[in-house]
Amino acid sequence: MALLVAAGSGTRVGGRVPKQFALLAGRPMIAHAYDALVAHPAIDEVLVVIGAGQEDMARDALGTVRTVTGGATRRESVARGLAAAGEAERVLVHDAARPFLPAEVIDRVLAALDEADAAIPVRAVADTLVDDGGGVVPRAGLHRVQTPQGFRRRALVEAHAAWPADEEATDDAQMVRRLGGTVVLVQGDTMLDKVTYPEDIAAAEARVAWETR
Ligand code: C5P
Repeated sequence: MALLVAAGSGTRVGGRVPKQFALLAGRPMIAHAYDALVAHPAIDEVLVVIGAGQEDMARDALGTVRTVTGGATRRESVARGLAAAGEAERVLVHDAARPFLPAEVIDRVLAALDEADAAIPVRAVADTLVDDGGGVVPRAGLHRVQTPQGFRRRALVEAHAAWPADEEATDDAQMVRRLGGTVVLVQGDTMLDKVTYPEDIAAAEARVAWETR
């Protein structure tokens, strides 16, 4: 099963509606990743985590869909989704803010789960990295982490239960890892870069136009 987390405020992108419901390449952003998850043959159910009061927007964007209300942080939103996720052995967690989700990435994540508690798609860092003082941080061996992240559901549930309530986590794999779970890296995709700022919408549309040229 898959959790599509879409309960962020989405305000950094600007605009009248939260970014996950804004139009991207002619469709609400959330619909792109939702369709990719539903279309994948190994995913039997998709549960969408939305903000309070967004049921109508979700229905307009996705049609009949199972939703659960998220929390104040991404970690809380995932936890609430997990609580409603049933007993599936494996769960994928995907950000609605990463609308273009290639099926091959889902394949790689699920295949890697045979050998691990968690599998995460990553991209190598392409830019030179510096610290606040301008000193270069060697980029070799560093990766940017994307979603969908795949988990043995039990490992993820345990990791959420053990995580301190007052500590934030930017993704779920770090929580599994802290409890001693195995996390493997698989190749991600530039199509999965997150849409965070207004200019990211145009960049995402350009990537789609390029891929489908
Ligand atoms: O804020 P950020 O860009 O890290 O959010 C990543 C994903 O997590 C987005 O799809 C967003 O909607 C989701 N999220 C959530 N609940 C929150 C915060 C973020 O579902 N409270």
